Amino acid sequence: MEKITVVTPTKQYPILLEQSFDGLANAIKEQNLSGRKMCIIADENTDKLYREVVKKELQKVADTVFYHCFPAGEQHKNLETISNFYQFYQKNRFDRKTVIVALGGGVCGDMAGFSAATYLRGISFIQIPTTLLAQVDSSVGGKTGVDFCGAKNNIGAFYQPELVYINTSTLKTLPQKEFSAGMAEVIKYGCILSPKFFQYLQQQKQNILSMQHDVLSEMIKQCCLLKAEVVSKDEKENGLREILNFGHTIGHAIETISNFQLLHGECVSLGMLAVLELGKKRKEVTEQEQKEVQELLAYFHLPLYVNSVSKENIYQQMFLDKKVKQNKISFVLPKGIGEVYTTSEVSENEIRKAIDFVVKI
Ligand code: NAD
Ligand code: GLY
Repeated sequence: MEKITVVTPTKQYPILLEQSFDGLANAIKEQNLSGRKMCIIADENTDKLYREVVKKELQKVADTVFYHCFPAGEQHKNLETISNFYQFYQKNRFDRKTVIVALGGGVCGDMAGFSAATYLRGISFIQIPTTLLAQVDSSVGGKTGVDFCGAKNNIGAFYQPELVYINTSTLKTLPQKEFSAGMAEVIKYGCILSPKFFQYLQQQKQNILSMQHDVLSEMIKQCCLLKAEVVSKDEKENGLREILNFGHTIGHAIETISNFQLLHGECVSLGMLAVLELGKKRKEVTEQEQKEVQELLAYFHLPLYVNSVSKENIYQQMFLDKKVKQNKISFVLPKGIGEVYTTSEVSENEIRKAIDFVVKI
């Protein structure tokens, strides 16, 4: 078992890295959450795969265990689904001591977390991430929310969980495409914070793809350490945390315009490639560095371009991004591999050329 602690002004909590659900009841006890009503929120896939085993663990420490399942997919990450959660909570008389347990990927964690942040002005929640993306990124750091009227995550709250319990063995049932999508966020950490981690990924790529257990665990641990460090320094994205949005400005726009036909991680991959091209044009990234990132993304079957979306719509969609301030889009741009900077001084021409690089009609 590995333990990483996230320390923020609002909460301190552990991320536990395990290979099964066997330690869950004990972990909950250690967070002083025993004896309460608990409610598993899962999508239809994680409900089928993992609800029973998680329920058994929760029953060891809970007063009563409830569960509520919603349809899987980004298209259901909206206020209608949240409203269904609230109705379930109210019907079952959930009170301020009830604990929400998010069992699933980033869609599940973001929504279960948001419902916990807002129901009765805030009740406790636990993250049990089951996708690679959620284990390395979305379950850590307290960003919760939903998409709204064509804008990604535009309704939400910063709300930290009580505990993040990662059972890496859940990745065995994850479809290959979803694993690849998670690798985009993994590679992102190398690009923004650590040339050493980027090299590790290059060296271990075969072992990662074949899901060699020790390598996978080490990789997830390093991502959690990097994210915990950033979030501990800047919980509410007043500065440093913005770097975690590398590739997301163009990526989110592609994700929305493609009507969620592409996975979040696939769009982040495209967004990273677009800003690397922008960085190369600014002479802040070499051709060799660009090639290395491209090759690593391609190795994990991530798309290098897309051809079914309108470039103009992507450009316009970017102005709905949360990071737009006074009509200027904020970008996280690369300086080689392992360092980035934030700027809103990016010309329309630069943005359009970056989009051209990843959208081939
Ligand atoms: P997801 O939650 O939709 O999960 C992907 C698919 O995998 C779903 O169909 C799900 O049912 C299935 N699944 C989950 N675990 C499984 C398992 N172990 N075995 C088999 N199938 C499994 O998508 P995601 O990629 O995990 O998350 C993407 C979302 O996360 C986006 O909405 C994005 O905005 C959000 N996100 C949030 C943050 C944050 O900081 N809060 C960070 C990054 C991404
Ligand atoms: N995934 C971006 C963040 O957590 O800030």
